Amino acid sequence: MAFTVAIDGPAAAGKGTVSRAVAAHFGFAHLDTGLLYRAVGQRMLEGTDPVEAALTLRAEDLDREGLRADPVAQAASKVAAIPEVRAALLDFQRAFARRAGGAVLDGRDIGTVICPEAEAKLFVTASAETRARRRFDELTGKGEAADFDRVLSDVRTRDARDMGRPDAPLKPARDAVEIDTSEMSISQAVAAAIAVIEDRIKERNDHENG
Ligand code: C5P
Repeated sequence: MAFTVAIDGPAAAGKGTVSRAVAAHFGFAHLDTGLLYRAVGQRMLEGTDPVEAALTLRAEDLDREGLRADPVAQAASKVAAIPEVRAALLDFQRAFARRAGGAVLDGRDIGTVICPEAEAKLFVTASAETRARRRFDELTGKGEAADFDRVLSDVRTRDARDMGRPDAPLKPARDAVEIDTSEMSISQAVAAAIAVIEDRIKERNDHENG
């Protein structure tokens, strides 16, 4: 039976961690939709037209090295503002969402555009400073040189581009439950997400059993 969990929110709010944990908890499949836009962004940086890249995207493109790097993240948010790129990626995401056994999709427009009928919708967010701090700690933890102000300004640039675009801007769905992780540990954020989804599963079961 299909059951879709839509998890949206800005960069580095903890969506990915919450999504993976929720998928593991319920035994649902997980799709990080940001990877689709990153793969298209990476191909644009290599000289391919982004619409062409989106139309010809292959599974192997999602496993390539460098997808997590910051220049690719910025390129992803540029190609993500192109309506034809978004349109090319739509059917794949919708089919994934309705696969049997349940699916968690995380991104920016899952609850609003890709799966407006999702059974559970979450908006995972945190202040820009908190998100920049987490990203900074992640980079320095890997031994990479990083400058906090630069990381913060990258976070803000990407937020502005993602929230300001006319097509599928980042915003909570009307019926999404917001989880602000600024003052939460990972396990608190995961527990909050699981509680919301358990409620929705119960509601659905109650409804089906009349
Ligand atoms: O989530 P992640 O940081 O990997 O996303 C990279 C970029 O891809 C985002 O900044 C956003 O512009 C774009 N994106 C999107 N819609 C999604 C997922 C990601 O526009 N569903």
